[in-house]
Amino acid sequence: MNTPIRESDYLMPLKVAGLSFRNNFVVGSGPAVKTLDMIKAIERWGWGGASLKLTIDPTYISKPPRYRWLKKHKYHAFTAETRLTFEQGLRLMEKARKAVSELILYANMAYAGENGEDGWIRMAKKYEAAGAHVIELNMCCPNMSFNVESSGGQSRALSGASVGSRPDIVSKTAAAVQAAVGIPVFVKLTPEGGRIGEVAKACFDNAIVSVGSTGNRLAIPDFDINNPQHGICRLQEEPTLACFSGPWLKPLALRDVYEMRAKCTPENMVMGSGGIEKWTDAVQMMMCGADFVQICTAVMLKGPKILPKIVKGIKQFMQQKGYDGYRDMRDMVVPHITPTDRLTLYRGHARIDEQKCTGCALCADIGHCYAISMENKKAKINVDDCTGCSTCVDLCPVNAVSICQYEKIEQE
Ligand SMILES: Cc1cc2nc3c(=O)[nH]c(=O)nc-3n(C[C@H](O)[C@H](O)[C@H](O)COP(=O)(O)O)c2cc1C
Repeated sequence: MNTPIRESDYLMPLKVAGLSFRNNFVVGSGPAVKTLDMIKAIERWGWGGASLKLTIDPTYISKPPRYRWLKKHKYHAFTAETRLTFEQGLRLMEKARKAVSELILYANMAYAGENGEDGWIRMAKKYEAAGAHVIELNMCCPNMSFNVESSGGQSRALSGASVGSRPDIVSKTAAAVQAAVGIPVFVKLTPEGGRIGEVAKACFDNAIVSVGSTGNRLAIPDFDINNPQHGICRLQEEPTLACFSGPWLKPLALRDVYEMRAKCTPENMVMGSGGIEKWTDAVQMMMCGADFVQICTAVMLKGPKILPKIVKGIKQFMQQKGYDGYRDMRDMVVPHITPTDRLTLYRGHARIDEQKCTGCALCADIGHCYAISMENKKAKINVDDCTGCSTCVDLCPVNAVSICQYEKIEQE
């Protein structure tokens, strides 16, 4: 990397719990943050923070990495992953802290032993002594005991997503760790369990500085139906539940962030991760309530050099809109998310532009609608049968279908 990065390429400063972040972008804990060289490159490319690869103590399910990037489906799936031992994590943190000047370093850690809170506290204190700026409690990873339990196994220790959906355990543990260290404790939660908003609120009620979501979901990746007993990963025999990330995940990750934000106060700091690749994705995250944005898969696939383009896009957007900082757009969507029983809907129907219609009949084939027929190789709408659902607009390859909108439908 020889191209010099100018401050203007990355600077969007924010201060949280006494820490000065160059911007609110953090490389999410994962394989792109596991060596000193990687961390140095992350600093050079201007990131605000880097969450070092997870340390689990005692070491628990650490295997050679097995990944697939299914670009057609836009998801990344991993089935096995190497975790740092506690010692490796501490040594990496010590070296990283000496090597960086502006990058904020997170210690992403999980305790998986039998000493409960004491185990978490012991780890956090050692990370603080090793130079971590932030302790990031990993209450999120679905690929530890949660995977084992979900695929019929028995786990010796609950870890990651298995504990992350329990507001009582998460908030109590986090509060105990926060009381024991002098650096801020951030908690990374799981959406598995469906209670992320509640868990986030319980953390904030217990004085936690920032709460975030991993976005990751455990799922079965597409497999070869001629070889169903084999997994999709190379150098791996069996199929297994895999940990999904990447663009496919973004709509779910936006929901996670919205749910956390909707349950907490404007002062609480929320982190979102899941499927962020472009500046527009990051803006959506912020509009759904995120202060911090973590990116993992896109950095794995393209390297830390993606940041300046993202920041540039956001800055240009903010300038166009007259926003002074990201806070001006944060939460913008949140108050407008409307329960489905209170949606404002309009009467209307589809209409065809005969000049554009090529007679392909895709719209006439729609299985849930018989309002469209073909006449003289042109689509025709029977307006009385059209419900205005608009699937035909999305299916038309030449934009020949549009929607006429009439008056509001009165609420029942
Ligand atoms: C291969 C891989 C390893 C990961 N390891 C960790 C980890 O050690 N700790 C953690 O908190 N999250 C981990 N994650 C989750 C990411 O940090 C991130 O939250 C998630 O993948 C969603 O964001 P993305 O779509 O940008 O990857 C990992 C993700 C991947 C793909």
